[in-house]
Amino acid sequence: MRKPIIAGNWKMNGTITEATILVEELKSLLGTEELPCDVVLCPPFTTLATVLDLVDETLIGVGAQNMDYHESGAFTGEVSPAMITEVGAQYVILGHSERREYYGETDAAVNAKIKAAFQYDLTPIVCVGESLEQREANHTKAWIEGQLEGAFKDIPKEEAMETVIAYEPIWAIGTGKTATADQAEEVCRDIRKKMAHLYDVETAEAIRIQYGGSVKGSNAKELLSEPNIDGALVGGASLIAADFKAIIDGTK
Ligand code: G3P
Repeated sequence: MRKPIIAGNWKMNGTITEATILVEELKSLLGTEELPCDVVLCPPFTTLATVLDLVDETLIGVGAQNMDYHESGAFTGEVSPAMITEVGAQYVILGHSERREYYGETDAAVNAKIKAAFQYDLTPIVCVGESLEQREANHTKAWIEGQLEGAFKDIPKEEAMETVIAYEPIWAIGTGKTATADQAEEVCRDIRKKMAHLYDVETAEAIRIQYGGSVKGSNAKELLSEPNIDGALVGGASLIAADFKAIIDGTK
């Protein structure tokens, strides 16, 4: 009953020329048939408008990879929710571990960004995940529960239900080391339980939870067959049209 959602996080990859080639290739691979899931491309800010033009009249959605939560003002280098909505994107990735690690993004900032996203009709894809040290110390559950408490503080139920949560174990990102389907399912199930605790079962059952971390065409199907994994947030493999298409097909 939850529609799967596959999102490609291009990270800091793709000039306008490269983005155009990639999207055209993906469009021709996907054809004009109905898609088996929601498909979202999250390119860098500089190619958002180009990608939006290219996917016009297709079912492919577009998201930003980050945003600031302020309305406007003296925040050099930042992009506001209004700017992202105006350009035409529908989604925004928030709290990615790279933003948390390299740019000091806190749970409080993620919380403010979720609120701002809803104010501007953007669907947030909220990332959570543990480091290898935390996993080895058996702190995964507590750590992720803390991230969820912080991110969803004072977010109303109706908005929480619309949010996409991406479970991305940091040790599996860009390492080629995918979490096993069992490991990913266990955490995604715990995330759903935590959301039921923070809200209620109805809310938790409505929320779509993605797995992210070295998802490829070859391992997507197994991960996506797990009952609590409703999609994937894909990094490297989303830059290869055929691989991304194979991941999309993994939701069939
Ligand atoms: O947001 C996607 C991500 O961090 C996973 O990256 O390259 O391991 O698929 P990758």
